[in-house]
Amino acid sequence: MGDPRLLEVAAPVTDFGTSALLQLLEDMRDTMAHEDGAGLAAPQIGVSLQVVIFGSADNPRYPDAPVVPHTVLINPELTPLDDEEQEGWEGCLSVPGMRGVVPRWNHLHYAGFDADGVRFERTVEGFHARVVQHEVDHLRGVLYPQRIRDMRRFGFTDVMFPNWQRRTR
Ligand code: NI
Repeated sequence: MGDPRLLEVAAPVTDFGTSALLQLLEDMRDTMAHEDGAGLAAPQIGVSLQVVIFGSADNPRYPDAPVVPHTVLINPELTPLDDEEQEGWEGCLSVPGMRGVVPRWNHLHYAGFDADGVRFERTVEGFHARVVQHEVDHLRGVLYPQRIRDMRRFGFTDVMFPNWQRRTR
């Protein structure tokens, strides 16, 4: 947080299946796995393209989170299905050591492309919807602290969740 590249609007991908795109995805997977992230957006490793990855099966940073399938999502389009919001704790690899409560749409339709340029779409809710909204925000230059409404519910993970922290790195 503080790097101006995280505040830029990312450009759409125009060439799919290229070695450059596959290398970017590999670098993103390595970074996400190393940091135990539930997701990562290309701007977080300094690449201003509309590429995000996410997936949360058995993640020690989110021990109680439902499983979200490992997904590559490129040039995403998000559509909320109603006005219902849900508040939940979020963290971000670009804001290390912190957590905050962020409102997100609870019911979400999203569409986009995989690494080969094949379009797909899903209708999701809850944690899955939250993860997608968090990652796609990175493509629009938005970090989760900008969406926190009550700054009293923003702070250091090991202070707010001392027991939870012992289960993580
Ligand atoms: Ni993030």
